[in-house]
Amino acid sequence: MGILLSKSRQNENGFDTISQYLFSVTGLPKKFDREEENAGLRHNLIRELFNGNFSSPIRDKLNDGGLMVLDVGCGFGTWLFDMSSDFKDCQYVGVDKTPQQFIANKPKNVEFVTADVTDGLPFNDESFDFIHIRNLVFDLRDKQWDSLVQECVRILKPGGYIEITETEMPTKSAGPNMDKLGKKMRNFLIERKISILIVNRIGDIMKSNNLQNIVHDERCFPLGTWDSSFRKAFQTFNLEVLRTSLIRFGGSKNIDSELSNLIAEANKYRSYFSVHRFFSQKI
Ligand SMILES: C[S@@+](CC[C@H](N)C(=O)[O-])C[C@H]1O[C@@H](n2cnc3c(N)ncnc32)[C@H](O)[C@@H]1O
Repeated sequence: MGILLSKSRQNENGFDTISQYLFSVTGLPKKFDREEENAGLRHNLIRELFNGNFSSPIRDKLNDGGLMVLDVGCGFGTWLFDMSSDFKDCQYVGVDKTPQQFIANKPKNVEFVTADVTDGLPFNDESFDFIHIRNLVFDLRDKQWDSLVQECVRILKPGGYIEITETEMPTKSAGPNMDKLGKKMRNFLIERKISILIVNRIGDIMKSNNLQNIVHDERCFPLGTWDSSFRKAFQTFNLEVLRTSLIRFGGSKNIDSELSNLIAEANKYRSYFSVHRFFSQKI
């Protein structure tokens, strides 16, 4: 068993999606479905953590309809599809560099555009009311975040909101084994110049682009199964993340026993990682 990285979907960092390098395990007959399933689980989890698909104060306007909403690095379009069914009278655009992720059977109010967002956003100035970015932490280098936010501000209408939800890499309250695994993973990313602590800079990047009313929210994503309030689906997701991390970075042949040890340790130490959400307004 090993990680499957399809060449066509690799970027210069060696991978292009969290699902690819964390979830794509060779030998599984329905790799693509599985990736999509995990993206769906992750989407549900983040929505659960933050009590909703977004935190910007735009619910009334979305309900009124007529807004243009953009999801940058939209992946399978999970967030867009959810939003487009909650607020049917708005228009949604997803931009991603990987066109094969765009499913054919999409809602009428969703469009997809294929583009590499590090080359700029292929949209006119002041064309969107709400821009959403989530889970690009494994894909962008430090400076690319600055130019991406700058581009978002350019295409955002005055009064519009930008919202970014990203994970903080190092696991908190990690036990020794989790710490070891996390270090290997972090080194892998750092070698590729991925900005694993971008959450520490997002607020400043927003400020330096003259965005106003910046709000930062942080939520705890428990690892292992120690948080009994967590639903079973989310525990499944955790196990999947840890299993695939072990396959990629653990180096042991006995993944099952290593996984049990890791879960036991995460439960003992009550390990977790933080998910951060920032939103701000263009005045
Ligand atoms: C981990 S997935 C997140 C998907 C989605 N935002 C979500 O939260 O479910 C990262 C996505 O960003 C896309 N991506 C990465 N780098 C990109 C780039 N430079 N330009 C456009 N899309 C990119 C990948 O193709 C992938 O679909």
